[in-house]
Amino acid sequence: MTTPESVPVIAIDGPVGSGKGTVARRVASEIGFRLLDSGALYRVLALAARTRGVSLDDGETLARVARNLAVAFVPGDATNPVYIRLDDVDITDEIRTEQCGNDASRISVRSEVRDALLERQHAFRRPPGLVADGRDMGSVVFPDAFVKIFLTATARTRADRRHKQLMAKGIDVSVTRLSREMAERDRRDRERTVAPLKPAKDAVVVDTTGLDVDTVVARVLEIARSRMVWPSSGEQDSGACFVRSAPVRETT
Ligand code: DC
Repeated sequence: MTTPESVPVIAIDGPVGSGKGTVARRVASEIGFRLLDSGALYRVLALAARTRGVSLDDGETLARVARNLAVAFVPGDATNPVYIRLDDVDITDEIRTEQCGNDASRISVRSEVRDALLERQHAFRRPPGLVADGRDMGSVVFPDAFVKIFLTATARTRADRRHKQLMAKGIDVSVTRLSREMAERDRRDRERTVAPLKPAKDAVVVDTTGLDVDTVVARVLEIARSRMVWPSSGEQDSGACFVRSAPVRETT
């Protein structure tokens, strides 16, 4: 029988613009794993709070809203791999604004909020496996992940990437303002007392400055595949496509 703990997880963490979302999606699609974009959950909650007039500093009420969020991740198409719905309304684009990202960062400092979202995140851990991206996937949410990656890049590179992403979506914002807001968000995410943004002790830190997405994806897949053990025929019905080997400590 498959227990959630037996389902393999690849955790990909990092700051804004480190490329974790794109890399996680590509890795998941390459090996047929499910995907958890944990930042989207914080963004949906931030949007729900704004819409319902809940203060972003009211941890208890935010946690209550989080527990009752009617959020759905619907498989998408080539334009949008996943559509996100809140109370049956499509909010895929609405949660991607910088305002929503900053609000998400603000509410994420609250331990009540983090606790309330934990179970939802664990529920994504289903066969054949999960690629989870965020800030604390390897350190808090899935500490037993068999691969933990922490992506970094220089502040300039990250701001340029984010700027490009926003422009592609038709959102015009100056790079200077974006850099300032990203620095502020990073500082808050790093300095909060609960689940701060930092590499798990056994994470492989990959500096993506100057690397293209293909190279980073190949590196993550290489690490993942080196730790995969394919099940024997008797274990095929376990649901998982492989059993994980003992985590290997590694630094680059
Ligand atoms: O990854 P993102 O930019 O969509 O995340 C938005 C904010 O949500 C981020 O600044 C901090 C918070 N977050 C978090 O605290 N923990 C996570 N695992 C993911 C996101």
